Amino acid sequence: MGVEIQIDQLTKSFGKQLIWGDVTLTVPAGEICVMLGPSGTGKSVLLKTLIGLLKPDKGSVVIEGTDIASCPEKDLYEIRKLFGVLFQDGAMFGSMNLYDNVAFPLREHTRKTESEVRDVVMEKMDLVGLIGAEDKLPGEISGGMRKRAGLARALVLDPQIVLFDEPDSGLDPVRTSFLNQLIIDLNAQTDATFLIVTHDINTARTVPDNIGLLYHKHLAMFGPREMLLSSEEPVVRQFLNAQRVGPIGMSEEKDADELAAEQGQDLPPLPPIPLQQEPSNGIPRRGQRPPGEWCRENGVTPPDGSFESTNAGIAV
Ligand SMILES: Nc1ncnc2c1ncn2[C@@H]1O[C@H](COP(=O)(O)OP(=O)(O)OP(=O)(O)O)[C@@H](O)[C@H]1O
Ligand SMILES: [Mg+2]
Repeated sequence: MGVEIQIDQLTKSFGKQLIWGDVTLTVPAGEICVMLGPSGTGKSVLLKTLIGLLKPDKGSVVIEGTDIASCPEKDLYEIRKLFGVLFQDGAMFGSMNLYDNVAFPLREHTRKTESEVRDVVMEKMDLVGLIGAEDKLPGEISGGMRKRAGLARALVLDPQIVLFDEPDSGLDPVRTSFLNQLIIDLNAQTDATFLIVTHDINTARTVPDNIGLLYHKHLAMFGPREMLLSSEEPVVRQFLNAQRVGPIGMSEEKDADELAAEQGQDLPPLPPIPLQQEPSNGIPRRGQRPPGEWCRENGVTPPDGSFESTNAGIAV
């Protein structure tokens, strides 16, 4: 069973540079959340703060009653065992083969015998489709395989929370699509809480139960996928639809002249909300809701053509 992460009034600076302030959100247990935001808005810093690698200036991150931001080191050590983290580049040890890389956390953190280690490693290698590649070195395999090996390693301690930092960066669209399906299937299978940082708009539109957007040193919005995909809020609308017109410019914020030049420009209508990608293993996910439910419950008219099967996102 995944656990929830309650983030309250979290603020982080490096020296005088404020990264983000007053970030408040609850990452629901067992659901998939995606965190978006322009480069440099502090998404990776947020993930590192959630596992206690970085200390916030103020605010709290409460997991199972423990505040990671203020707890003693020994409690943090225990809480960290709940986490699996997939770093951006897979963070494999270059001189170890995939088997030893995946076995590493088990050998470090458990007293399992080598034969027990083998059972777990092979089970996770199988989950991510890497059986047969155990003897390969990270440098000998493709980026997509490295990501999957990183995912196997993130899963060996059966984490309650899995953090993914750009799992799809550097992958071709087909591999991204396979990885997204794998993420959804793993969420169904493990019921763990997933938080994914990505720049891939198609992933953000079709995979998660909830979406957050960090922008201009704060959390611009966080909520159910349908809420953000039907939102007219300028920053959310621009980012989730990858548009040039809107408040976000090349260097984060547009200046007054640029914004004035856009005045009166008609925005294209919001594109249809795609169907959410479903598990391929037939296991229902905790966060999965019937298409259009959030819109109906909240009296929101979704964009024309939403939730049609022909519109299930290009990744499906
Ligand atoms: N350890 C650190 N010390 C000082 N500044 C840091 C540190 N880590 C990150 N930063 C700064 O924090 C800001 C946010 O960095 P972060 O890596 O979280 O951005 P990001 O949103 O993940 O960007 P990207 O989408 O490009 O990965 C950047 O300005 C970065 O230089
Ligand atoms: Mg980053």
